[in-house]
Amino acid sequence: ELIDWSIENVKKGGFEHYMLKEIYEQPQVFYNTMMGITPDQIPPELKQSDEVTVVACGSSYHTGLIFKYLLESICRIPVRAELGSEFKYFTPPIKGLVMVITQSGETADTLAALKKAKAYNCPTLAITNVLGSTVTRMADHTLFMRAGPEISVAATKSFIAQLAVLMQIANLLHDGDLTGVLTHANSVIEEALLTDTKKAVEICSPAEHIFYVGRGLFYPIALEGALKMKEISYIHAEGYAAGELKHGPFALLSPQTPVVALCSPGNTYPVMVSNIKEMKARGAPIIAIGVNGDLELSEIVDVFIPIPESHELVQVLATSVVLQMLAYHTAVALNRDIDKPRNLAKSVTVE
Ligand code: G6P
Repeated sequence: ELIDWSIENVKKGGFEHYMLKEIYEQPQVFYNTMMGITPDQIPPELKQSDEVTVVACGSSYHTGLIFKYLLESICRIPVRAELGSEFKYFTPPIKGLVMVITQSGETADTLAALKKAKAYNCPTLAITNVLGSTVTRMADHTLFMRAGPEISVAATKSFIAQLAVLMQIANLLHDGDLTGVLTHANSVIEEALLTDTKKAVEICSPAEHIFYVGRGLFYPIALEGALKMKEISYIHAEGYAAGELKHGPFALLSPQTPVVALCSPGNTYPVMVSNIKEMKARGAPIIAIGVNGDLELSEIVDVFIPIPESHELVQVLATSVVLQMLAYHTAVALNRDIDKPRNLAKSVTVE
């Protein structure tokens, strides 16, 4: 068979789509980005702030929500997370540092929010992947993700790189106790890349609606998993805090509405298991992501996807990678235009 030497194929490095190539780059991207953030880069205003406001859009907003959990639970600093498109139009009493997260550094709503923060005289910090992007010229401080160019419209390695920056910030503000955990995370992400999503894809690809549920740190991951699924497979997917499903969405559960449940060990585990039983009782097929060897969980669900047992933050990373692959393989099964989904743009430069 002849090798296809077109520039496009060489750039994809042997992968069928940029998205898959970018998913596979994540162990290295996480490591490089995390190691690239050193204590001297943390802005003094962040250490001194009594409260922090995070503003972002899309997948970047989801990493902002994770940062809220991290900074509040690890560093005990109150954080508000806002959408760029909302922040511009209301007048919250903000004080302290305003942090914007934007892969491209060009998202109009995020830049508008940054402008507003500056009008309030708040110190500003940008997290971005692009050197010389507009956000780097506007913010007082910038921390860079080392993801390299992301070609596929759906954010994958930029999401993981943002988490690397944000987890490292929380780590450094908390005396570096998580350094060991974060420097070894890449090997667990590597293992997660070996996950077989075939049975889950069989359940998801014929569905018209899919729910993603999680609690705590896994709630924003459920939101991101659902966003990935709808972006590239065009299946309607909704992320929910697991406890909220009974306040309405339960009415929609049936054998035609699969639920992807994120169920790692920790203080929310018992209540997640009881939520899963409730959803199962309404006939919904359950795909659960939990840790290797969790027999209690694997026995009550339709498809069990194990991830390696590790620190909660590392499980967040591994779960994100599995959900990216679930969306990717479902979209492949449906023959979608993976790297360029209809109606979407990589960078949204209008408000
Ligand atoms: C677009 C992209 C998303 C991205 C969002 C925010 O909608 O399709 O993948 O999350 O913009 O982009 P940013 O560059 O600000 O992170």
